[in-house]
Amino acid sequence: MEKLFQIKHLKKYYPVGVKREKGKEEPILLKAVDDLSFNIFKGENLGVVGESGCGKSTLGRCLLKLIESTEGDILFRDQSIIKNNKKQMVTLRKDMQMVFQNPYSSFNPKQTLKRALLDVAHFYGMPEEDAKKRIYELVDYVNLDRSLLSRRSGELSGGQLQRLAIVRALIPNPSFIMADEPVSALDVSVQAQILNLLYDMKDELGLTMMFNSHELTVVEHICDRVLVMYLGGMVEIGVTEEIFGNTMHPYTKALIASKPKDHPDEVKDHAVLEGEVPNATEIPEGCRFCTRCPEMIDGLCNKKIPPLYRVADRHWVSCHKAKKAAEKFMEEG
Ligand SMILES: Nc1ncnc2c1ncn2[C@@H]1O[C@H](COP(=O)(O)OP(=O)(O)OP(=O)(O)O)[C@@H](O)[C@H]1O
Ligand SMILES: [Mg+2]
Repeated sequence: MEKLFQIKHLKKYYPVGVKREKGKEEPILLKAVDDLSFNIFKGENLGVVGESGCGKSTLGRCLLKLIESTEGDILFRDQSIIKNNKKQMVTLRKDMQMVFQNPYSSFNPKQTLKRALLDVAHFYGMPEEDAKKRIYELVDYVNLDRSLLSRRSGELSGGQLQRLAIVRALIPNPSFIMADEPVSALDVSVQAQILNLLYDMKDELGLTMMFNSHELTVVEHICDRVLVMYLGGMVEIGVTEEIFGNTMHPYTKALIASKPKDHPDEVKDHAVLEGEVPNATEIPEGCRFCTRCPEMIDGLCNKKIPPLYRVADRHWVSCHKAKKAAEKFMEEG
């Protein structure tokens, strides 16, 4: 499988204050993304899930270099984007686009939508006639009436506007789209339509996607692989069937248990998450999930960072309890 992105020991720390220790001043760092390493393969839709504040959006922004990373490397088509300057990023960003959570805040309410989309096309160097043609083609593709283009963002529904946000992302013909909670601000009745559009688009246009969501149901249906984040770190990653059918990490188990039931008779076999996520300026010692983990082993989980164990062909988990499964996989493998 060809790697589109290679993320290596990526960190994004925000300095959020100063503390005094032994007479010295030290910055207080909020560890929004804390040493993540994984790949995004060409043609896949990688779902990134976790509770609010676990670092999904920060990770996405780092990948597109909308914010500077603190440490680590990000290779896009084998080229490091960490050292790229703004000009190099403009060229590269044609190839990597983003769809945001709230379509209303991603369009200027004073402009007509046609003007807004033409500006994007011009930004990427498209001549006027080509730009118009491209925009009309895409508006047809997302199943909207062209007449909507003469309106302003406030005059459209959330679903219509999110379709136009998708048009905007597709204008430069990107190969990668990072969709950051693209349906969570929308009315439930239109969520499925937008999800279907994104799902079909991936295959029809040969895209690779990263899809951030705190809703597991969504990810289960449209993603090929799932990365589970907790407090800035990766706790589990694997193909979707493995994550849902052979769930290993207690945090992933709890997330799955907390998703709405498909059927009223469905029985939950895992505890729903309790307690608050710790402050990202004070990541717990050992496993970052140990303070909330129902399976915590005292003296191990709260002391030693668990390695990333490979428990199946395309399934890794960072939990001390996965050691046996990893050994079994090695023996059988
Ligand atoms: N500019 C910033 N300065 C300081 N802290 C920040 C900044 N941006 C994000 N954070 C913090 O980084 C952490 C990760 O935030 P992020 O928005 O990436 O989470 P998320 O998983 O996308 O959450 P949500 O599901 O609510 O969108 C949070 O603790 C957040 O408060
Ligand atoms: Mg977010």
